[in-house]
Amino acid sequence: MNVLLVASECAPFVKTGGLADVVGALPKALIPTGVDCRVILPLYRSLQGLREKATVKADLGKLFGAPAGLIAVKAEGVSLILLDAPDLFDRGAGIYLDDTGQDWPDNAQRYAALCKAAVHVAQKGFDGWKPDLLHAHDWQAGLAPWYLRQAGSALPSIVTIHNIAFQGLFPNKLADKLDLDPSGFSPDGYEYYGKISYLKAGIVASQRITTVSPTYARELMSEEFGMGFEGLLQSRRSDLVGILNGIDLDAWDPQTDEAIAANYNSRALKRKSVNRDALEKRFSLNANPSAPLFCVVSRLTAQKGLDLLLAALPVLVGRGARLALLGSGEKKLEEAFRQAAVAHAGSVGTIIGYDEKLSHLMQAGADAILVPSRFEPCGLTQLYGLRYGTIPVVSHTGGLADTVIDANDAAVKAGCATGFQFAPVTLAGMVDVIDRVCDMFSDQKSWSALMRNAMRHQVGWETSAAAYSDLYRSVLNGREEGGE
Ligand code: ADP
Ligand code: GLC
Repeated sequence: MNVLLVASECAPFVKTGGLADVVGALPKALIPTGVDCRVILPLYRSLQGLREKATVKADLGKLFGAPAGLIAVKAEGVSLILLDAPDLFDRGAGIYLDDTGQDWPDNAQRYAALCKAAVHVAQKGFDGWKPDLLHAHDWQAGLAPWYLRQAGSALPSIVTIHNIAFQGLFPNKLADKLDLDPSGFSPDGYEYYGKISYLKAGIVASQRITTVSPTYARELMSEEFGMGFEGLLQSRRSDLVGILNGIDLDAWDPQTDEAIAANYNSRALKRKSVNRDALEKRFSLNANPSAPLFCVVSRLTAQKGLDLLLAALPVLVGRGARLALLGSGEKKLEEAFRQAAVAHAGSVGTIIGYDEKLSHLMQAGADAILVPSRFEPCGLTQLYGLRYGTIPVVSHTGGLADTVIDANDAAVKAGCATGFQFAPVTLAGMVDVIDRVCDMFSDQKSWSALMRNAMRHQVGWETSAAAYSDLYRSVLNGREEGGE
């Protein structure tokens, strides 16, 4: 079975968040299930080096006025189809944002072009390969199922929602330019409160909708989390499924990780402390073996709930605990964490920026990783934490709720606890969980048991890749039986 993944990011080539990790790991995980995946991705400036590896090229003429072509490349075990449209993608700054932090003004055309290119591959094939099914990820790929349907294609589509907060909204006056059939500007089509929504177009035109955890699938149908899409998703309830993300077990393995100070496993946990020493040094933190070293590796946005952590810092520091934070995002949060590092020198360390290598050392060196998100479709950093014996301390929402077993009395007794959950996501909840973590840490025997449980937890892709594979097959079988 051949599946075309359409996405705007793919690790390790281009990444701003968890979407990239998923798109990079899923194709490899699907191979043993008999699925041959190709990923279609824009050829951003940072990917230009991949040109040298190109095996096949095709000319697409012009897409929205920009000369465009396709390049086939195999790298890091993934088969890529790169959309080579320099006017749209060969530029500096971020992939979505310009150097002032604003969305690129032509993002509508840029990602519509990606979707047009995907439809070209879906219909005509490329490099001797043709998909049986198209799998679109997030709003950037949302028009691909729509354009397919508009072209009268029978090829089935699936759309995965990684984060409903990003809906791909653009003014309706662009519809003609974007080659969107005006009849689609309706509540049953791509129209969303007077605008075009790429995500909605993808949902409406796809046979199935997936999201990245079972709890988030349920949450998406509620007013609290659906962000306006709850009604639409309720109406597609039987087509909506939550499949948990996994992590790449080769890239994230404390036994072999080259980015950390000392390799370790659950039988040689003492060596983990070499990483703690390195992390303390890197963040200029005092040593204190009797209280935990917390870390955060995150985008700094309201979603992630880190304003609550800021407010709880006096309590954390008061318990003798330390915090190392690596992140970037909203300027106000960046500045607040910079200031916290000054105010609590030796106890709080902040590095603003994006640093993949350092993120590995943080997972290896910290005792606990904090993820106090207000909503979290899946979350990957708590999964890396589990694998590295770095205890996840998470809010009870979305994929966080599905992947961490709270160390309450019953779970500790049963020997299955892997971390800490808290709810509601308030300052009081945050303070309470910090206290619980510090209390448990002071009993090193219980803490070590928690670490071992965490490291045993299955966080790979095997089960979820099988679930995607089954889903693809059920969509294709349904179509053959005339049921779709
Ligand atoms: P989201 O996709 O919402 O940002 P996830 O937890 O799913 O959240 O994925 C975030 C990914 O980005 C993880 O792989 C995490 O390690 C990485 N990450 C986030 N911020 C940074 C940073 N400042 N430096 C390095 N890696 C980061
Ligand atoms: C989104 C979500 C995150 C999820 C990631 C990958 O960015 O915010 O929770 O893990 O996508 O699916």
